[in-house]
Amino acid sequence: MPNSASQSFLLKDSFNTLVDSFIDNKVGVAENFLPAMLAGNLKENLIKLYNEKQLQQAGTGNDTTVVHNKLMRSDIIYWLDRKHNNQYENEFFELMDNFVSFLNSTCYTGITGYEFHYTMYEPGSFYKKHLDQFRNNDSRQYSMILYLNDNWQDEDGGKLRIHHSDSFQDISPENGKIVFFKSNELPHEVMITNKPRLSITGWLKIH
Ligand code: OGA
Ligand code: MN
Repeated sequence: MPNSASQSFLLKDSFNTLVDSFIDNKVGVAENFLPAMLAGNLKENLIKLYNEKQLQQAGTGNDTTVVHNKLMRSDIIYWLDRKHNNQYENEFFELMDNFVSFLNSTCYTGITGYEFHYTMYEPGSFYKKHLDQFRNNDSRQYSMILYLNDNWQDEDGGKLRIHHSDSFQDISPENGKIVFFKSNELPHEVMITNKPRLSITGWLKIH
């Protein structure tokens, strides 16, 4: 059992891996960012909410321009909230608080908030090429996606495709992996998935 000093060292290690790869490639990736226990518990929450039909179709655009556009995206979502008093959501928020402190102190990012939702892509679902920042609201600064899928195979589809200026990068939605990039810079899409594809998606925000 690691003591809290070595635990926080391990945490810093994965924060460093994520931020270093972000600085090098514009896309930060870290495997096993979510501790296996927490990933398992969040996945259980998500499956329970899904079975209770609590997940809803996501819109594109912000509050004033919500368009339930099935041609653009077909995932369904449920927002995490401290008000749920759910142990695992709260553990997740604590991890994010630590990451935001780390990011603000190492990169002077000035992040003051965040929002995260559970996400389910049922088989046949996708999200067409898009940017995460809304045209009339620049509060979303960084996008983060954490995956909750064991043993993802190439034939399962559902890769995250990130478009760089003259190439693209495909990322497989493997359990515990996190992806981190600037919300207004990199167009990206979720390729059609052939298996249920589970994740937590969110944004680090200013004002
Ligand atoms: C999004 C998104 C990517 C993914 O929800 O905006 O781009 O890999 N998700 O789930
Ligand atoms: Mn996106």
